[in-house]
Amino acid sequence: MADLSGKAAFITGAGSGIGQGTAVRLARDGADICIAEIDLDAAAETASMVREFGRQAHVVRCNVASHDQVQSAADECVAELGSIDIAVANAGIGRGGSVLEMTQKDWQDQVDINLTGVFLTVQAAAQRMVTAGSGGRIVCISSLAALNTSAQMWSYSATKAGVAMMVRGWAADLGQHGINVNAIGPGVIDTPLAHALAGDEGGPIRTQLEAATPLGRSGRPSDIAGLISFLVGPDAEFMSGSYLVMDGGLRDARGNLMEDPESPVGQERMRHMQSSMERTARLQPLIDQR
Ligand SMILES: NC(=O)c1ccc[n+]([C@@H]2O[C@H](COP(=O)([O-])OP(=O)(O)OC[C@H]3O[C@@H](n4cnc5c(N)ncnc54)[C@H](O)[C@@H]3O)[C@@H](O)[C@H]2O)c1
Repeated sequence: MADLSGKAAFITGAGSGIGQGTAVRLARDGADICIAEIDLDAAAETASMVREFGRQAHVVRCNVASHDQVQSAADECVAELGSIDIAVANAGIGRGGSVLEMTQKDWQDQVDINLTGVFLTVQAAAQRMVTAGSGGRIVCISSLAALNTSAQMWSYSATKAGVAMMVRGWAADLGQHGINVNAIGPGVIDTPLAHALAGDEGGPIRTQLEAATPLGRSGRPSDIAGLISFLVGPDAEFMSGSYLVMDGGLRDARGNLMEDPESPVGQERMRHMQSSMERTARLQPLIDQR
């Protein structure tokens, strides 16, 4: 467990899911928490959870897609908690859909929140860290979907791949100020957003995903919060520009999702693999002539 006593953490979207789990975990580690949210009821719930650990919680209404709101939320954090030592750019939304049907509004909302919102959050936090001159830690929540995508998830994936790449540039930029910036790529984590993208617990999509996950379950917000606690703590002092996947092993097992060997697709794939192996066996003597 990291000792974050005396630190102030600015967390966007901390009213629910991963953000809430992170607020609670960092408070348990000793940090005071600024909850930057559009949903003030949810934020109030997180604030009372933070206060149970004896830490200060400050709620500020903030739409991360708005430059002015993010700037004034960051100012409020400094005014109320004294500084921003840690920033977690977590707020995000998911809008799935075929390219044939996605509306420009759904596309733009994802870009404005998942991509521009992360930029604005990191900019506001880093500006204040540089002014304070004490360095800082920034964690951006990307997704496993930065590496994998599908016919329905491509627009969400595009924003998350953008986050993973921006972090590398920001690490190069901000290292001179003692600021580390890293990204996390969660797999399926049990939150309201996952319900929207991957269905309910026990439902067919989630059951298939969990069956394909080597560790056999969805993740919990506390899993990701534990990794964030590491990234903002003393043991990650030399870590910056990284993109860390936490997905129960799903990334490399994901190809198994559609491959029921008994299904017509699975059977055809087996036939092709068999004939490919036979062809390779025939060619092997030629390959060996060198
Ligand atoms: N749950 C998963 O399986 C999963 C997987 C990979 C990545 N992620 C990412 O993790 C992050 C958190 O997701 P979650 O699953 O906890 O979702 P969630 O829906 O449970 O929580 C997201 C929170 O962000 C807030 N929010 C939404 N738009 C906002 C805005 N414009 N400004 C400020 N706050 C806003 C919401 O009010 C909500 O409280 C997101 O960036 C998401 O893309 C989630």
